Amino acid sequence: MAEESFGRHLVAVIGAGPAGLFASRLLATNDIHVVLLNRDIIPGGLAEYGIYHDKYKMKEGLRRQFQQILDLPMIDYYGDLTIGENGDLSLPELRALGFQALLVAVGAQGTKWLGLPGENLMGVYHAKDLVFHYNLLPPYGTRDVPIGKRVALIGAGNVMLDIAHWLIRDIKVDEVVSVVRRGPNDVKFTKEELKLVVRNLDLAKFESEMVRMQPIADAVGQNVNDAKEYILSTLPKSLEPISNTRFYFDFLVSPARILGNDQGYVNGLEVENTTLVCAEGEVQAQRLGTNRILDVDTVIFCIGDKVDESFGLPVRKNAFVKHPNPIYPMDGLSFEAYDPDLNRPIDRVFVAGWSREASNGLVGVARKDGENGARAVLEFLQTAPRLVDPDSILDELTVKLKRLNKPIIHKSDLLKLAEAEAIEAAKFGLPAYKFATNDEMLAAMGLI
Ligand SMILES: Cc1cc2nc3c(=O)[nH]c(=O)nc-3n(C[C@H](O)[C@H](O)[C@H](O)COP(=O)(O)OP(=O)(O)OC[C@H]3O[C@@H](n4cnc5c(N)ncnc54)[C@H](O)[C@@H]3O)c2cc1C
Ligand SMILES: NC(=O)c1ccc[n+]([C@@H]2O[C@H](COP(=O)([O-])OP(=O)(O)OC[C@H]3O[C@@H](n4cnc5c(N)ncnc54)[C@H](OP(=O)(O)O)[C@@H]3O)[C@@H](O)[C@H]2O)c1
Repeated sequence: MAEESFGRHLVAVIGAGPAGLFASRLLATNDIHVVLLNRDIIPGGLAEYGIYHDKYKMKEGLRRQFQQILDLPMIDYYGDLTIGENGDLSLPELRALGFQALLVAVGAQGTKWLGLPGENLMGVYHAKDLVFHYNLLPPYGTRDVPIGKRVALIGAGNVMLDIAHWLIRDIKVDEVVSVVRRGPNDVKFTKEELKLVVRNLDLAKFESEMVRMQPIADAVGQNVNDAKEYILSTLPKSLEPISNTRFYFDFLVSPARILGNDQGYVNGLEVENTTLVCAEGEVQAQRLGTNRILDVDTVIFCIGDKVDESFGLPVRKNAFVKHPNPIYPMDGLSFEAYDPDLNRPIDRVFVAGWSREASNGLVGVARKDGENGARAVLEFLQTAPRLVDPDSILDELTVKLKRLNKPIIHKSDLLKLAEAEAIEAAKFGLPAYKFATNDEMLAAMGLI
């Protein structure tokens, strides 16, 4: 009998966000035994804990798809288990167990600070602190996040608009200013998200910003009227406002310093004026050396994320380093982890999703990336015989996990949790219910 006709291929997928889950499905449906390891109790990553909290229909649809994936018998799930240098298991420990390949899909969990004076003042946040808070990711969900009355949001992407949405429609602050280093032609948000808050936009201020922008945009070949049309075309189908929050854009400014009072709270944001220049085939912001101060008491960075430096893989340009000349490229992209100092691939380790390219696109993009990462793993596995005794690796993993002396979440536990959440939702007449702490979830699953 040929060696390939018995035994199994065994792969560890680290991270059960969209990239890791869809990668696991592709592997499992190709007869690969997948061990899916996830930091959070609940799978879904940013689909569960990033997507805006009241998008119930979208979240429910995704949860159903994720459940169908977990229902596949070839996938084992281990939740509440962090891999990394400061985690429950390190990447080298996991590799040493003998998995034939490891696909890293842990998203971009690091924080991209700019190193500006005043970043440690009270009232300075990174968007993820607040996104995780309103989406009830433990331990962020129960953290106090005091927000002032006048809030500066750095950046002009969809995350900025999600935070603006929360500040305008939930918290109802006095003012929200989006601080944009380039101009209105370079905003990255979609109309769909702008529609939810555009009725709070200060139109007079917007118009004066457009007049100020016109000659600067003209000089780099941009048409301000296109940008104006993009933004104002959202008004007819916009959501009714429910607060008096003044929302406005301040274009052509880059954050320089955050000012604080004697008690260590933010009381201003110093910004440097910029202009637009064409360089390397794109429109870039160029600092002008002149500064001014915005009268704000809260500053929130919405500038994208980077991967966790303590995960155990080399990091460049906010993401884990990939092999520059991949052996198993998919769509021309590399999914193979690489050590740039030693100039060699990291044996058996692959990366996908926001771990491969931080803050890149929607769930659909992460799904495609995860699936392509899985295809690269499948090609690699064609060079490796099936394992004769994969169960010994699983047994060894179980022994290691037992030594952690904490509950590890399995698929059957997740079903119990979903039942408990449904009961709570029905009790309070809510479209969905989430426990805000790990202890409440563990209790609901009968694990403590
Ligand atoms: C605020 C926000 C709102 C968004 N809203 C939308 C939207 O409305 N619609 C849309 O289509 N897209 C939206 N997106 C984009 C979408 O969420 C991402 O494209 C997608 O979730 C990225 O998938 P991923 O699997 O690469 O990473 P993640 O979703 O970040 O998943 C990473 C997974 O890895 C696990 N993990 C992390 N570290 C470790 C570790 N050390 N060990 C083990 N496991 C680990 C986490 O628990 C998590 O389950 C939004 C993104 C953000 C930031
Ligand atoms: N509802 C949704 O569908 C939804 C919600 C949230 C997120 N997402 C998706 O998630 C991904 C990430 O979104 P994101 O908003 O985090 O990232 P993003 O779209 O890349 O936007 C980041 C913003 O931050 C600015 N920025 C970056 N570095 C900066 C710096 N050093 N100084 C000043 N400004 C800086 C960028 O300006 P420059 O352009 O000048 O670099 C840009 O305006 C996107 O694909 C987004 O569409 C989707």
